[in-house]
Amino acid sequence: KRLLVINGPNLNRLGVREPGIYGGETLATLESGLQLVAEREGINLETFQSNHEGAIIDQLHAADTDYDGVIINPGAFTHYSYAIRDAIAGISTPVLEVHISNVHAREEFRHHSVTAPVSIGQIVGLGFYGYELGLLAMLQHLRGKEN
Ligand code: DQA
Repeated sequence: KRLLVINGPNLNRLGVREPGIYGGETLATLESGLQLVAEREGINLETFQSNHEGAIIDQLHAADTDYDGVIINPGAFTHYSYAIRDAIAGISTPVLEVHISNVHAREEFRHHSVTAPVSIGQIVGLGFYGYELGLLAMLQHLRGKEN
């Protein structure tokens, strides 16, 4: 199996950006931790981060043929990017949404996700561990499809 983890805008600043909300660990630490999980699960994992909406959309299009599943944290795009929502809706590769913080305990504008309805599920508020859970849940989802 081949999975892709996409991190959206400002997530390259993990560790320095609002550490009270997102923690003190970096994106590099997050990604290397996920590589260990992928190794343990015997799957191929690639990671991608961009601050640009179009670059994220291009990756989603590529994922339609190149990956079996996508774990995405669209950052603030979650709340208003119909373009990313349409990109997810337009590929047959399943997408699972992750948020580090508990968006429901924060500002009102973070309570709504335009991307969640086109994703297989959403994990919020569990920190970096949410990505690991997302990865395992995606593998379970893909196994279910095989049966
Ligand atoms: C986030 C939550 C978003 O509201 C915010 O804009 C982010 C990060 C999270 O992982 O908690 O950039 O997606």
